[in-house]
Amino acid sequence: MIVTIDGPAGAGKSTIARALADRLAFAFLDTGAMYRAVTLDALRSHASWEDAGALAELARRSKIELDETQVYLNGDDVSDAIRTTEVTTHIHFMADNPAVRERMVELQRMYADGKDIVTEGRDQGTVVFPDAECKIFLTASPDERARRRLEELRQRGESPTLAEVLQQQDQRDLRDSSRGVGRLEKAQDAIEVITDGLTPDQVLAHLLEFVRARIPDQQDG
Ligand code: DC
Repeated sequence: MIVTIDGPAGAGKSTIARALADRLAFAFLDTGAMYRAVTLDALRSHASWEDAGALAELARRSKIELDETQVYLNGDDVSDAIRTTEVTTHIHFMADNPAVRERMVELQRMYADGKDIVTEGRDQGTVVFPDAECKIFLTASPDERARRRLEELRQRGESPTLAEVLQQQDQRDLRDSSRGVGRLEKAQDAIEVITDGLTPDQVLAHLLEFVRARIPDQQDG
């Protein structure tokens, strides 16, 4: 069974998707981490951001491997290195490139093949797994999301202001929801969950109920 969780940055997707996969004993795929890894590869290779063909070629060559917790790029553990602001601010060059996306979609489908899986991103329910049995669109208000992002960045030792985080988030939201392919949007058959004022445990309980109701012969507990 495939469970897709899409939504904007800071909606709590990662934490919830991981916890959901854990509770269901499903595999987990963080597709944002794949876009981050391929962006890091471009940064490390000093690729030209203007050369869409070269970026696509690089994406085809990049060896991206993921397990439940770590991300590897060409054999290197880059789980922390992909989370920097430098990577985040350059991702759009890769995420806007249709040929890069095509490669990522291919890798995502290969990863999920034959698995029970929770997959998290922007386009999972719309483009990558349009036939997924359970589709969730997880969101929260911009203020709430920015506050959560700020907390996350501070824990990583970065010290931006709330206004800076909000401004970057607005830019990213605009990019994510206006790109030609794979844009952030709710699949028609997805349920929308707004996480403002809810604890991660409350959101998780709600999603577990939603998914379990769709698993044939699944017992609660
Ligand atoms: O979920 P995240 O913040 O780690 O994602 C990083 C970026 O990757 C985000 O700005 C949009 C892009 N992305 C995408 O275009 N498609 C996906 N399926 C996942 C992420």
